[in-house]
Amino acid sequence: MDYVNAPGRNHLFVPGPVNVPESVLRAMNRNNEDYRSPAIPAMTKTLLEDVKKIFKTTSGTPFLIPTTGTGAWDSALTNTLSPGDRTISFVIGQFSLLWVDQQQRLGFNVDVVESEWGRGADLDVLASKLAEDTAHTIKAVCIVHNETATGVTNNLAAVRKLLDHYNHPALFLVDGVSSICALDFRMDEWGVDVALTGSQKALSLPTGMGIVCASPKALEASKTAKSVRIFFDWKDYLKFYKMGTYWPYTPSIQLLYGLRAALDLLFEEGLENVFARHNRLATATRLAVEAWGLKNCTQSEEWLSDTVTAVVVPPYIDSAEIVRRGWQRYNLSLGLGLNKVAGKVFRIGHLGNLNELMLKDKLKVLGYSDCNQIILRESRESLPRVYCVKLEIS
Ligand SMILES: Cc1ncc(COP(=O)(O)O)c(C=O)c1O
Repeated sequence: MDYVNAPGRNHLFVPGPVNVPESVLRAMNRNNEDYRSPAIPAMTKTLLEDVKKIFKTTSGTPFLIPTTGTGAWDSALTNTLSPGDRTISFVIGQFSLLWVDQQQRLGFNVDVVESEWGRGADLDVLASKLAEDTAHTIKAVCIVHNETATGVTNNLAAVRKLLDHYNHPALFLVDGVSSICALDFRMDEWGVDVALTGSQKALSLPTGMGIVCASPKALEASKTAKSVRIFFDWKDYLKFYKMGTYWPYTPSIQLLYGLRAALDLLFEEGLENVFARHNRLATATRLAVEAWGLKNCTQSEEWLSDTVTAVVVPPYIDSAEIVRRGWQRYNLSLGLGLNKVAGKVFRIGHLGNLNELMLKDKLKVLGYSDCNQIILRESRESLPRVYCVKLEIS
């Protein structure tokens, strides 16, 4: 994509990384500090306590790891499983596909359950696999809560129900990268064994911190899991937790202060209000898509995502062209279609520290009927047909 210096500030509407609020930016604007001073362990202790609230857990043990979502996957898998272990994992889009790839490269025996992109995890297949597995060869069920590539949210309560129904002891590992802090996430209630997220998504922090939370059962599994891990070994963290110094290696001081400020914002608003706000913004986006006469990639209401909407464009439009035009003309960053849906969808991220006014502007500029300014239009210059649609969002 050619670089063009469009005027104005960048309007970041990809589904992560997201905008960082001013108060968080200011909180991070500080010098390095000695992480062995009394101040940092004291702050870390309260952060670890408070971060449990975003997972809705009291029994989980959180780890704040200098990494991204991909590293958090690694941490979840290598601490709980051994090479050769059988996992069930669902491919419903690019991120669930990448997680499966990681599991395969770690030497697990991955039982892949695929769905058409735009659909959720096939829980009927999971049910039959759990029913057949009386010998309990399945060691873990791995699922992405919210598939960011297609805007599909899986039903985690239903997965737990199936595990309980078949009295199956498999670990329940969940990628909550584009859900936690935006969608209701109930680690204890759903019996999730490892949940994880990345700082640059709904927490609205810069990239660089993976947050992983392990249930007592996952911690127990980590005592015998044979996957090689060094940097991500929970054992090292736990040793330092016990000592009260908390850090096996140098943490990013700035991100810790940022996390404090980000959590304060979330708690001040109230998590339930944060979820309701995400639902409002997602509903407005879906109404806008409908008004444009376009389709949502998500194939059924049960899977609609409140953090990202993947918009299917007509076959004569390349969705990458819409993203390119938005960026060149308005300094607007939208998400590209990835892999199987490249060129077919573009994605609007509506997660993190965001309000109605910010989103409304983007939706208007995308769909407005001024043909000179429109982004959603025929991209082939030889066919100057304009995709004019009016947009009204309430
Ligand atoms: C659902 C999901 N899982 C994992 C990842 C990978 O996270 P990262 O890019 O921070 O490594 C992403 C990234 O967008 C994601 O959306």
